[in-house]
Amino acid sequence: MIELPPPNVLAAALTRKSPRRDTHAEWRNWCETRLQFVPAAQLMFHQWKSLSLRERSLYDLYRTATHVNLTLQETPMSMKVSRLVNRRVRNNALKQKPSTRAGVMVSGWGYQGKTETVCEVLATFEQDWRALHDHLNPHAVEGTRDLHAPVAYVQTPVTAKPKSTCQAILDFFGADTKKMTLPELMRQVTASLHDHGVKALVLDDITRLRMHRADDQDSLDLIRAFMSMNVTLILIGVDIPHSGLLREGKWDGEARQWVLPPSRHARVHGLEATQTERRFDLVELDRFRYTTPGQITAFHDHLTGLEDNLRLLKARPGMLTSGTMPEYLMRRTDGVVGLLERLIEDGAQEAMDSGRELLDEDLLDEIIISLDDPGRDPAAGEIPAIPGSPVPDTAPASAAPARPRKGRNTVFDDHGPELAQPGA
Ligand SMILES: Nc1ncnc2c1ncn2[C@@H]1O[C@H](COP(=O)(O)OP(=O)(O)OP(=O)(O)O)[C@@H](O)[C@H]1O
Ligand SMILES: [Mg+2]
Repeated sequence: MIELPPPNVLAAALTRKSPRRDTHAEWRNWCETRLQFVPAAQLMFHQWKSLSLRERSLYDLYRTATHVNLTLQETPMSMKVSRLVNRRVRNNALKQKPSTRAGVMVSGWGYQGKTETVCEVLATFEQDWRALHDHLNPHAVEGTRDLHAPVAYVQTPVTAKPKSTCQAILDFFGADTKKMTLPELMRQVTASLHDHGVKALVLDDITRLRMHRADDQDSLDLIRAFMSMNVTLILIGVDIPHSGLLREGKWDGEARQWVLPPSRHARVHGLEATQTERRFDLVELDRFRYTTPGQITAFHDHLTGLEDNLRLLKARPGMLTSGTMPEYLMRRTDGVVGLLERLIEDGAQEAMDSGRELLDEDLLDEIIISLDDPGRDPAAGEIPAIPGSPVPDTAPASAAPARPRKGRNTVFDDHGPELAQPGA
């Protein structure tokens, strides 16, 4: 007897609201529902053949939903980032001292999973923190105190100015910011972070700030000022070391952290009395590589995970991991997790449409990976180069040649950890 999904499961899968996260309500909805999707059962071809036409089309719809909702898998690279973000946020949240909290910068190239990795860690943190809160204060009644928002997720506006950056943060809480001046906005941000009990503030796509623009420098300065509000600041961006964000910073080799000078905004707006420097851990989310046995195993494990998620009727075990397939997939995607997901997702659709019902190199050769995602800014390097495709017209900001500058002799400086380049 073949089990088809109960209609309510299928309806829930097909009518889910868009998984946006940039308001408090959307963030909470995403946190609570992100693990709810139940993949379709695996059927073999003869089982599918025995279904009625209506059942077949329902099942096909369900497996398409399964293919476009591939699970987020742990990789050695994502674990390195998760561990650091998790440690910082949890330790900082428990810290009683009034000193500023060290932040985290998560760097990597486009489509390598920065946003998903960080959001996943913070969703778990939020759930644990809420549970602890409710355990300590079980009588708190929803609606009778300020909205509790342990995590605030904000995307950096494409043309960030101090005002629009404040507005983006306040939009998360649904605050009305019309006609507010910058000092008013800053006071409102301070009050919101405090009143809503924010422990971690994520600013995603921070490398949309171009440090040659005065407005953008002011925005970064303002963002640093938020660190005096006892929140853990998490900045996510493409190739942060070469983006100019750290231009004013110096590397502290002993603590293995970047140190940025105190924020001017904090002084101007009286957010703090002392001029505390800001410290950041910088962590790189790398792509898959295929050189050492450990790297090869990690890539194979990921492919096994992908294969387990596919519901193709003529799939054979080892379809993605045997023969020359791993090398082929590496070549097609350069080991970038998001490109791999896109290739497999589109390949699975093609396998269903054509009736081939399995993935092989011939079928995948027909798939052109295209990333037409309006939510990503190509000029900020958020769309990676796709192997075999022409280089996009808009080069990433980080690719802009740096203006030569005379300076002191830096031969003996410790420049911090060397970060990987794409294609290296
Ligand atoms: N560990 C993972 N396992 C499986 N899929 C992943 C993983 N990490 C990311 N992905 C997928 O890769 C795609 C790109 O991920 P994400 O948006 O987090 O990348 P990003 O580094 O933030 O990119 P950008 O710089 O363009 O913002 C997503 O569709 C996501 O589902
Ligand atoms: Mg992202």
